[in-house]
Amino acid sequence: MSDLEDVPSVDLMSELLRRMKCESKPDKRLILVGPPGSGKGTQSPIIKDEYCLCHLATGDMLRAAVSAKTALGIKAKEAMEKGELVSDDLVVGIIDDALKKPSCQKGFILDGFPRTVVQAQKLDEMLGKRGVKVDKVLNFAIDDAILEERITGRWIHPSSGRSYHTKFAPPKVSGVDDVTGEPLIQRKDDTAAVLKSRLEAFHKQTEPVIDYYNNKGVVANLQAEKPPQEVTSEVKKVLS
Ligand code: AP5
Repeated sequence: MSDLEDVPSVDLMSELLRRMKCESKPDKRLILVGPPGSGKGTQSPIIKDEYCLCHLATGDMLRAAVSAKTALGIKAKEAMEKGELVSDDLVVGIIDDALKKPSCQKGFILDGFPRTVVQAQKLDEMLGKRGVKVDKVLNFAIDDAILEERITGRWIHPSSGRSYHTKFAPPKVSGVDDVTGEPLIQRKDDTAAVLKSRLEAFHKQTEPVIDYYNNKGVVANLQAEKPPQEVTSEVKKVLS
């Protein structure tokens, strides 16, 4: 309570207005699936704000654990740097915990999870216990050839997760975050060489997840090679 007393009135009011607006939004449980650089992380914050959902990105959670050197991070580091998937048990555990957050009350966006059929089955079990199911899987379909330029030109602001691109989404001032002015960094796995392993993992282990959800009739295919604003319009159409 004493913390709230220190929050400026204008921030409290805007949070209150946000919560009132969210009350009228339908619940949604979404999965974003696509290869590295297909635009999942770019579209997620827009969908999150529009539908008042929580955004759970396993890659971001794992990177935070690696940089904090937690037990989870120590286990995940090597696989991530090689562009391989970390074990199903590790990621299923972090999603199970994260879904309990109050911000996931109206639903969620899973970005980068599930990435194997085992993870999809475990997710179904978790949701089944809560009496809910996945509403839509947005498949960011894109040709591999486009992805190297997107991945090698990406710069991120680690603490907020904001992402930029030297050509497609440059920051106002080169090398610094638009909001905080802090320096941007490149991810260790954002190299052409590691991208090859990440794409291999996607085709071998994650594409079967799309088939898994196709069989349930919940997949919507997006043309992810289009410019970001056009992808956003497609997403809104699919979710309306
Ligand atoms: P993760 O962090 O999930 O990486 P990823 O799936 O490879 O996806 P990216 O974040 O690279 O791509 P994105 O689709 O979000 O692209 P973005 O929008 O930023 O996973 C990293 C690692 O963690 C994995 O390799 C694995 O080791 C581990 N891991 C994570 N989850 C796991 C799981 N469930 N199981 C096991 N292991 C797991 O866009 C890329 C760039 O392109 C940006 O610069 C952006 O500005 C630009 N851009 C975006 N959209 C467009 C557009 N339409 N036109 C032009 N440019 C665009």
